[in-house]
Amino acid sequence: MEIVVSGIRPTGNLHLGNYFGAVKNFLRLQDEYKCFFFIADWHSLTTHPHPGDVTVNVRKILAEYLACGIDPEKAAIYVQSDVKEILELYLFLNMNAYLGELQRVTSFKEKARKQPENVNAGLLTYPTLMAADIIIHKANKVPVGKDQEQNMEMARKFARRFNTIYGVDFFPEPESYYFTGEAVKVPGLDGSGKMGKSEGNAIYLVDDAATIRKKVMKAVTDSGPTEPNSVKPEAIENLFTMLKIVSSPDTYDYFNEKYNCCEIRYGDLKKQLAEDIVQFTAPIRERILEISADVAYMDKVVAQGAEKARESASRTIKEVRKIIGFK
Ligand code: ADP
Ligand code: TRP
Repeated sequence: MEIVVSGIRPTGNLHLGNYFGAVKNFLRLQDEYKCFFFIADWHSLTTHPHPGDVTVNVRKILAEYLACGIDPEKAAIYVQSDVKEILELYLFLNMNAYLGELQRVTSFKEKARKQPENVNAGLLTYPTLMAADIIIHKANKVPVGKDQEQNMEMARKFARRFNTIYGVDFFPEPESYYFTGEAVKVPGLDGSGKMGKSEGNAIYLVDDAATIRKKVMKAVTDSGPTEPNSVKPEAIENLFTMLKIVSSPDTYDYFNEKYNCCEIRYGDLKKQLAEDIVQFTAPIRERILEISADVAYMDKVVAQGAEKARESASRTIKEVRKIIGFK
């Protein structure tokens, strides 16, 4: 069976963009493939040397993913730092990774520019660690965003190079797996662009109803169309895109018709949209709170995930040692 690996940086709470752009696809993948989903806590040290209480941060994210429906019975869900085998492979890969090629990686150059006081070796070797994450399970498919393409090319290069240097056909070349079928971009409600943490316009799954209503009611609108069937300006289009994502087709059609005959009342649209978002997120929020409070359950999930991941990783690393010559 094909193997899927994906890593998630622990960078904050999940928002609607993360859910519809990424998490929803993980839910589908876990039914079709042997999946390994992990939280990349080591990677975050390349930019955040003092992450605070890693365990607390990691569990917050884990609770959110579990609340969304990522199922520890179907996929292996684990924390990167629980699987030390990854480090051994990282070391082996680094022995055949060259300074020049690592320095040419765009995200390295970008981060080096952003944090000139901390251009550390971990930052430089981010792609080898990522490659180790992936090929430690001999993965075939890696669901990632377009921004990860260069890291994925490096992972393929390192897998290929290992095979060539040691004269084996051991690691498959992992391919990026884009969610083409329904590549949704969740818009921000502040007039333009996408919803994102750094954009400061995110509606989080863990937001309570009052917070969501407040955020939606603040959405940017205009004075309304004056001609029937006008093209919608971006801010308005974004509101309708959001309706399409979270509301029923009837609701969408209702407001679309109102817009087309210039009778739209944005206040009504926003109220409806807010209620539909609340209806969607409320059960997830409830599960997040439940799961976060259940420390024993979280412990169990983390331990079970680590065990599954280590089983697969140690099988690989034993072979790798033998191939290299540690017999
Ligand atoms: P953010 O942009 O909030 O920092 P990340 O970059 O951590 O989010 O993205 C995590 C995942 O969520 C990625 O797979 C990304 O493609 C997806 N994602 C983030 N924002 C959106 C959005 N507005 N619409 C669709 N997918 C998104
Ligand atoms: N670099 C990825 C990101 O920034 C996170 C990541 C680390 C990852 N290791 C991975 C993704 C392995 C897929 C597979 O989003």
